[in-house]
Amino acid sequence: MSKKKTILSGIQPSGKLHIGNYFGAIRQHIAMQEEGDAFFFIANYHSLTSLNDGKQLYQNTIDVTLDYLALGLDPKKATFFAQSDVPQVTELAWILGTLAPVSLMEKGVSYKDKIAAGLKPNIGLFTYPILQAADILIYHSDIVPVGEDQKQNIEITRDLAGKFNHTYNNEYLKLPEEHIVKSVAVVPGIDGRKMSKSYDNTIDIFAEGKALKKRVMSIQTDSTALEDPKDPESDNVFALIKLFADKETQSEIAEKYRAGGYGYGHAKKELLGMIEDFFEEARERRKDLETDLDYVHDVLRQGSKRARNRAEEVMEPIREVTGIVRHF
Ligand code: ADP
Ligand code: TRP
Repeated sequence: MSKKKTILSGIQPSGKLHIGNYFGAIRQHIAMQEEGDAFFFIANYHSLTSLNDGKQLYQNTIDVTLDYLALGLDPKKATFFAQSDVPQVTELAWILGTLAPVSLMEKGVSYKDKIAAGLKPNIGLFTYPILQAADILIYHSDIVPVGEDQKQNIEITRDLAGKFNHTYNNEYLKLPEEHIVKSVAVVPGIDGRKMSKSYDNTIDIFAEGKALKKRVMSIQTDSTALEDPKDPESDNVFALIKLFADKETQSEIAEKYRAGGYGYGHAKKELLGMIEDFFEEARERRKDLETDLDYVHDVLRQGSKRARNRAEEVMEPIREVTGIVRHF
């Protein structure tokens, strides 16, 4: 195994990716492909806990692959694959599940949050962190860049790795570092709450034309009159502008807010132009990729092969030590 640190993260294919996902996760993932042995995967088994439309789940899987490639993921640098293409993950998840105290799972905040948000309390949702632990441990991951909301799942992963090592009296599973990449800040949605697929308040990365304009124009603002001075720091439009504009442009626009005579409509138009420019190249690349789906499938095939090889290396001694001997 290489000496470079193994970086791993996953993203659920549960809907169209939005600019909150981009600034909170995808951008960091793509930057990290330069820094280590990077593995990024589409957590399609995890999505089954909330999405039961096979056609849609499969389409989302291809869409997320197109999105990552268009946004700069380089399959020569990073291993990109679908979770379900590595069967060792579910194999390890079962073994970890036999060591996971029910009381540990009952403390899961994300389970409670999802139930509160209306998801059905199925066992998959309850044991979600065990599958996530297997995702991480099966590649001997060192660093798992995720947002603050995933912190507990990383702690559970470390806990389960420690339990496995203790139970089987070895140091076989590698505990990932506690390292959490704090998102740049929570990206607000068009209604001012956290941008999230579940709130129907997103601006999708690859939205364009009228649809994009409609979303941007419907960002909620207060009712300060056009001629009056405005506070940029308390405005949703400005919060989004800050993600796209350099420091100088940010202060120029903030000045216009404070001076008065500059309306939210003006700010929205500037933001719309910024979003269009920022993702323009990626949008073009995505359109090209859509016409070359063979390449996209090939990326997933090659990625899964590399991931499976690594997973098998890690799984073999685990089978041995647990007494799960293969007869084939
Ligand atoms: P959603 O809330 O839309 O379902 P996910 O929970 O699937 O998004 O998040 C996928 C990744 O994107 C996570 O790493 C998460 O931290 C990040 N992310 C999602 N929404 C935001 C946001 N509004 N601001 C910053 N990061 C976000
Ligand atoms: N739970 C993560 C999310 O909702 C997705 C995920 C699944 C993941 N398995 C993972 C992230 C392993 C990091 C490592 O965003």
